[in-house]
Amino acid sequence: MDRLERRLMVAFLLLPLLSVSCAAHQKTTVSWCVLSDAEEQKCLHLAGNATARNIRGTLECVRGEDTRDCLDKIKNGTADAASMFADDIYAAGFCHGLELAAGESHNGVDGYSYYVVAMARRSSSDLSLLEMHERSSCHPGIRTTISMGEQCNFPRAVGNFFGYSCVPGVKDVQHDPKGNNPKNLCEACIGDDNDRHICANNPRERHYGESGALRCVAENLGDVAFVKHSTIFDNLDGKNQESWALDLELEDLKLLCPDGTEAGLDEFERCHLAAVPANAVVVRMEDKCRVWKFLERLQNAFGNATEGFRLFSSAGYGESNVLFDDDTHHLQRVLGSYTSWLGPTYTTMLQAFDCFLSNRILLMELEEEIQRLNLHPIPLTPSSCSAFPTLSRHL
Ligand SMILES: *[C@@H]1O[C@H](CO)[C@@H](O)[C@H](O)[C@H]1NC(C)=O
Ligand SMILES: *[C@@H]1O[C@H](CO)[C@@H](O)[C@H](O)[C@H]1NC(C)=O
Ligand SMILES: *[C@@H]1O[C@H](CO)[C@@H](O)[C@H](O)[C@H]1NC(C)=O
Repeated sequence: MDRLERRLMVAFLLLPLLSVSCAAHQKTTVSWCVLSDAEEQKCLHLAGNATARNIRGTLECVRGEDTRDCLDKIKNGTADAASMFADDIYAAGFCHGLELAAGESHNGVDGYSYYVVAMARRSSSDLSLLEMHERSSCHPGIRTTISMGEQCNFPRAVGNFFGYSCVPGVKDVQHDPKGNNPKNLCEACIGDDNDRHICANNPRERHYGESGALRCVAENLGDVAFVKHSTIFDNLDGKNQESWALDLELEDLKLLCPDGTEAGLDEFERCHLAAVPANAVVVRMEDKCRVWKFLERLQNAFGNATEGFRLFSSAGYGESNVLFDDDTHHLQRVLGSYTSWLGPTYTTMLQAFDCFLSNRILLMELEEEIQRLNLHPIPLTPSSCSAFPTLSRHL
């Protein structure tokens, strides 16, 4: 046999395997790991409706204690699938060797859920993301409770970098056990009407959260807010009745781009600091195809339904975003690995830093600055996987 013949032969042997590899699976049940009563209820409704419509395959609902428990269950086969946030997808892939079957598309085109942008007042001229030193910044808050090593101290990096800022929660004991975080990180915070709860990691601090960070810039206390691209649209046109928001107009603000230029508020697709991947369905490697096929049948039946069970609606379950985000347009197949879903920027950043969970936004905007200040990030190794805390849900 010459080389060509041998290659052809191999190709013929493999061909049937490849083409039937998905259908050949005997298992027809997909068990979904759910985390709450609402999720369980919607899962059971989906299962019942799928059976009633004679959709091939059976959906089962397995209750997990938390995301970590669901990952363990999927790994050992007690569950087959669960929908997860970007951080959890990273842990699922990197720490547990799991993969993705499908992901949410919110705009019908790509798999991003939102962009992190730098928003400033249009009247602030001579402001550039390349020249932020000593400028003041506003942040929605500090989010997770992971202890940060000396080598990877984001609050200190931000404190040294910006003149004064509002990073709600940065002086809380859990984020600052030694009390070392710079005080200037709370100087653009205003607390409540009675000047209490200044820098609190909750809505009593009026500069807390996405709209609080926007307010901080709108009120001229900060030069730039690091927020989701949608924040401005959520607070305009009477959607927010607070006086600062009623006065706000689209023309008052602009975006600062990483290359030092500026852009209009609707140009977030090209002018952002980070694109945050949408939720996706975590499965074992060998189940990628099987679970996708099942989901495809489910969304064909219930994805666009206007009556009866609706896959992307949470109405009636007492919560929003149950099983899938309510903004989901459709589920798209993930053919590549989990890293292809998360995208190069997100993955590189997470791989580079052990402490990324401490604050994703600070990390992204300061990536370059951290290098400049020569703070050595600790590489993420499989051993640090055991230390993964309950991961933050949203920014
Ligand atoms: C189908 O879903 C609806 C909710 O949309 C639910 O009330 C109903 O019980 C479900 N049907 C079955 C057979 O589970
Ligand atoms: C699989 O993992 C889950 C979660 O850790 C555990 O509760 C269950 O007992 C395990 N099952 C098997 C068969 O190992
Ligand atoms: C719903 O319909 C729209 C428009 O026809 C289509 O683009 C979309 O893919 C459909 N969604 C699902 C989940 O089938």
